[in-house]
Amino acid sequence: MNDSKSEIIECLTTMLGANGVLDEPVDCERYRRDWARHELGAPLAVVRPKNTQEVAQVVGFCHEHRVHMVPQGGHTGLVKGALPDSRHPEVVISLERMTRIRNIDPPNFSMAVDSGCILEEVKRVAEEHDCFFPLSLGAQGSCQIGGNIATNAGGVNVLRYGMMRELVLGMEVVLPNGEIWDSMQALHKDNRGYNLQQLFLGSEGTLGIVTGAVLKLSPRPEQSQTALLALPSIEAAVQLYAQARRACSDLLSAFELIPRQCLEIAFEAAPQLSDPLDSAYPYYVLMELGASGPVDLPGMLERLLEAGLEDETVLDGVLASSVTQADQLWLIRESMVEGQLLRGEHLRTDVAVPISAIAECVERASAAVTTYSPESLVIAYGHIGDGNLHINVLPPTQTPAEALPALFEQLESAILTVVDGFDGSISAEHGIGRSKQAAYLGRLSATERRLLAGIKAVFDPDELMGAGRILPLTERSSSSS
Ligand code: FAD
Ligand code: LAC
Ligand code: ZN
Repeated sequence: MNDSKSEIIECLTTMLGANGVLDEPVDCERYRRDWARHELGAPLAVVRPKNTQEVAQVVGFCHEHRVHMVPQGGHTGLVKGALPDSRHPEVVISLERMTRIRNIDPPNFSMAVDSGCILEEVKRVAEEHDCFFPLSLGAQGSCQIGGNIATNAGGVNVLRYGMMRELVLGMEVVLPNGEIWDSMQALHKDNRGYNLQQLFLGSEGTLGIVTGAVLKLSPRPEQSQTALLALPSIEAAVQLYAQARRACSDLLSAFELIPRQCLEIAFEAAPQLSDPLDSAYPYYVLMELGASGPVDLPGMLERLLEAGLEDETVLDGVLASSVTQADQLWLIRESMVEGQLLRGEHLRTDVAVPISAIAECVERASAAVTTYSPESLVIAYGHIGDGNLHINVLPPTQTPAEALPALFEQLESAILTVVDGFDGSISAEHGIGRSKQAAYLGRLSATERRLLAGIKAVFDPDELMGAGRILPLTERSSSSS
């Protein structure tokens, strides 16, 4: 970067107008912090383009003037990818003003949107047209479609509908040199050569800025059934999951494991909630079935519950009798994530193992944590149907803040070593960003490193976009910044 900050801001302001560029620290404040209240450095400036052409203009300018950039969505990513860097000043390119629903085509089950659209709004518009956009996650009131694409988000409906990767038909991207790549086709089948589009899913803002997407919709389920079941163990949850898949004709859309402590933590964050059951149990499963047409969902769920009670995989349970009651049950699932944040800084993991290995993995990981830190609280919850668990650790409350990074490093390494033993993944749905980079790089083969670096070099040879996320800065780039 050769130009001064004021020259850069002046040029950007000429392109986007005063409203489109923020550089006063007080205005930039909220763009330097994420949902988890982490921050690394101040942005050089924040730009807020209104359309794809403006994004292309800004990126083209930054490319020409060797200015680093980072795309930003709803700041809910959990691996510090969207935070501006402290090593080299970065222009934050926020998509928050690009919120247009471009069109919806119900007979084609597709919808074209600007990437700054909030997930919840996309779901609402799809419903208005008797369709369903299935991506569902706790952050859906803030996260954006572009962020969901960039992180290849998962959530609670993956077992039936897949991750974001399976929910995108077309895409529009501004490449790191300012070129626009337009692939906004609404095709359900397309098998032409290498799939460039898929490279952007999970690319975490390192290969280009997603400005638009054609989303794949499903029919809106006309009926759904939600139940919170109490179980004696994680083994029982895994067994019940297999039974549910078989007994419910693949109409199962969510199957979430919740340990007792998470209920307590949820009540701390949402005091209006109360225990839906009369007694406390070690584990719970929050499950949902959805269908259209003449399908007897209540009957299916009741039969599953009866069989579970008989063979003692299920100890108790409540079936939601209204949408409001179902929403209350889901609020427990959402609030327990908020509640962990309220308890303070904690270790968050996002691992995957084969579904059949879940119980043993949690047992071994908990034992490993206890060896290092007997007073820490391990809470393992998550997406049983995807073999994806968040094995999180809340440290003892009296731990001094300066001791936490070393403790978390030690505990994370212990948990991930257990996961390695099952040939698992160290990041099932949150991505790599910066937080998981060391664990990720340490597990890559030389061949993988070469191929990944090659992909980055094709898209962004000057390492100006999202530099240092997923892959480390190269020596050339570190010395020039
Ligand atoms: P940001 O946080 O703003 O950015 C995330 C990354 O994407 C950054 O690297 C950024 O540079 C890049 N990026 C953002 N927008 C663009 C764009 N338009 N083009 C290119 N790159 C871009 N994740 C799950 O998978 N499953 C869950 O169940 C889940 N639950 C969550 C619950 C809570 C309470 C929270 C806070 C987060 C949760 N997440 C979950 C994390 C999830 O990754 C994010 O919620 C979401 O996908 C990120 O979207 P965002 O718009 O907030 O992106
Ligand atoms: C969840 C997020 C944190 O499953 O991935 O709650
Ligand atoms: Zn999750």
